[in-house]
Amino acid sequence: MWRTHTCGELRSEHIGQNVILSGWIQRIRDKGGVMWLDLRDRYGITQVVLEEGISPEETIATVRKAGREFVIQVKGGVVERHSKNPNLTTGDIEIKPSEIKVLNSSKTPPFTIEEDTDGGDELRMKYRYLDLRRTSVRNNLELRHSVMKKTRDYLSEASFIEVETPVLIKSTPEGARDFVVPSRMNPGEFYALPQSPQTFKQLLMVSGFDKYFQIVKCFRDEDLRADRQPEFTQIDCEMSFVEREDILNTFEGLTKYLFNEVKNIELGDFPRMSYQEAMEKYGSDKPDIRFGMEFKDLTTLAKGHGFGVFDSSEGVLGIVATGCASYTRKQIDALTEWVKRPQIGAKGLVYAKYNEDGSIKSSVDKFYDEKTLSEWMTSCGAQKGDMLLILSGDLAPTRKSLNELRLFMGSELGLRDKSVFQPLWVVDFPLLEWDEDSQRFHAMHHPFTSPNFEDLSLMESDPGKTRANAYDLVINGVEIGGGSIRIHDRKVQETMFKALGFTPEEANKQFGFLLEAFEYGAPPHGGIAFGFDRLCSLMGGSDSIRDYIAFPKNNSGRDVMIDTPSSLSEEQLNELNIILKKM
Ligand code: AMO
Repeated sequence: MWRTHTCGELRSEHIGQNVILSGWIQRIRDKGGVMWLDLRDRYGITQVVLEEGISPEETIATVRKAGREFVIQVKGGVVERHSKNPNLTTGDIEIKPSEIKVLNSSKTPPFTIEEDTDGGDELRMKYRYLDLRRTSVRNNLELRHSVMKKTRDYLSEASFIEVETPVLIKSTPEGARDFVVPSRMNPGEFYALPQSPQTFKQLLMVSGFDKYFQIVKCFRDEDLRADRQPEFTQIDCEMSFVEREDILNTFEGLTKYLFNEVKNIELGDFPRMSYQEAMEKYGSDKPDIRFGMEFKDLTTLAKGHGFGVFDSSEGVLGIVATGCASYTRKQIDALTEWVKRPQIGAKGLVYAKYNEDGSIKSSVDKFYDEKTLSEWMTSCGAQKGDMLLILSGDLAPTRKSLNELRLFMGSELGLRDKSVFQPLWVVDFPLLEWDEDSQRFHAMHHPFTSPNFEDLSLMESDPGKTRANAYDLVINGVEIGGGSIRIHDRKVQETMFKALGFTPEEANKQFGFLLEAFEYGAPPHGGIAFGFDRLCSLMGGSDSIRDYIAFPKNNSGRDVMIDTPSSLSEEQLNELNIILKKM
C-alpha cells in the first residue's frame, strides 16, 4: 500500500492513528536535534517531525541523504503539534515516523517549488511539469476543472447534448489564419484545424440536434497576447427554433450558475448595450463597466476658439478623472508620454484641472477663458478636485486611444477591482466592416451571422449600415463570448457571400456543403461560443490565460518544454510531398 491518507487530509481526530503518506519533500529544516520535513502532494502539506534519540536512526539518516522534491513514503503515528499552524489545513497535527522510504530521488529543481518561486517565465514554462506542482498553478487547473464540470452539468440539465466535431477539417473563415495539416494520402492537399466548429454546429441543427454544446479545442494562427493562445478552448453552443432573447437568457443563466457554484458570487441581471452606444461612451466594443468615466463629447464647445489642434479635429473627447486635480506637472507629463506611445497612438493630451478653490487650470489656457473652461466642466459633470483629460483627432482613432487612457486611469484610481464582476451584453453589432487594405467588406463576426430582420433590405443597398443579429458577452472589459442568430436560408446566405466579395463559384467551392444543407429543411437557429480559458482566468483573477492552461505556448507560439514547432525529417517531408524553400 502506497498511502492510507493524502497529505491534505489529517486532522486532530486522526491523532493516535498509524498512517502511511506518500509525496514530495517540499522542505527540510534541520536544527540538529530536531528535523522538520514538509511532505506535499496534490491535496496539501503534512509536517513530519524527527527527533534525535527518539525517531529510528534510519529514518533520520534517510532524510539527511534526501533533498527537495524526492518522492518518499512515510509510515508513522499522527500526533498533536505543539505549535499549531492555522495557515495549514493539517496544521494541528504532525507525523512521528517509524519508517521512511525513498521512492525516487530528484535532481535539485531549477526553481523553488513554493508559492513565491524564484523561477522566471521561460524557465517555468520549460519545466512546466514542476511549475504545476506549485499550489497556485494547481489551484488554477482545479478551478478550470470545476468550471468545465459545472458547464457540462448545467447544459446537460438544460437538454443540450455534447457532440464532438472533427479536428481535421476544411478552413472556416473566422478572421484568423488557419493552421494546416498536409494530407499524405492526398498529395498537395491540406486539412485545416478548426478555428471553431461553426459550420459543423450549424449542420447539427439541420440534423435536428436542437441544442448542441461542445467543450472544444480551437486553433487560430494569429498574433498572441495575454488573452490569446494559438490553441484554446471554447464552450461552443447552438440552438434551434430560438431568437436572440432565448440565447441570451440561456447563457446569462449559465454564467450566473458558474459564478454561483464556483465562486459563490450572485451576479445580478446583465445589462445590454448597443455596439454604437459602447463605442460612443467607451470607445470599445468590450467596455469595462466596473467604473464610469464615460466619454464626454466636447467637440462643439472646443471648436472655434483658435486652437488649431481642436479646430481641425473630427472629434474632441474627454473623460473626468475623479479627484485628480492634484496631479503634479510630472504626473501629467508622464500621462502625456504614455498616451503618445505607438500602442496608444494619441498625438498629445490636453488637461483641465478643476481646482478645489473653483479656479480652472488647463494646458490650453491661451485659447480658452475660464468661463468656457467652466462650461466644459459643467457639460462633463466634473466636480471641484477633478481633472478633465482630453484627446482629439479623427473620431475612430481618438476613441481607441481614449479607451486605453480610460482603462489606464481606471486602474490607477483603483476602480478595477478583480473581485468585482460586471457582465454586459453588447448587441446590434454592424454586420460588415470595411477593410481598407483589401478594399472590401469583412464579416464582423463571421459570414453565417444573420442581419437584423429589419435591416435585411440594406444588405444590398447599403451593406455597411446593416446591423447584425449578433451579441458578445463582456465581463470586466474582457470579451468572454460571442455569437449570433444565423442565416438559415440559402438565398440570404448567398447575398451575404456576395456582400463579402465572393463570386458564386468561390462561395460554392468553399461552402457548397452548407448552402446545400440549407435546402434540406434548415431550422432557424443561433448560438454562441465562450472563450473557456478567458472565462477561467477571469474567474481566477488573472490577466493571462496561460495560467489556466496546463501546457501553454509562449508568445511566439512555441512550446518550450517539448521544443516545438520543430523540423521534420527528409523522409517525412518526402512522404508528405513537401519541398521546403531554402531559408
Ligand atoms: P469568436 O471568434 O468570437 O466566435 O470566439 C468566441 C470566443 O473565443 C475566445 N477566443 C479566444 N480565446 C483564447 N485565445 C484565442 N486565440 C481566442 N480567440 C477567440 C473569445 C471569444 O469571445 N464560432 C463563433 C461563435 C459563434 O458565433 O457561435 C466564434 O468562434 O473569448
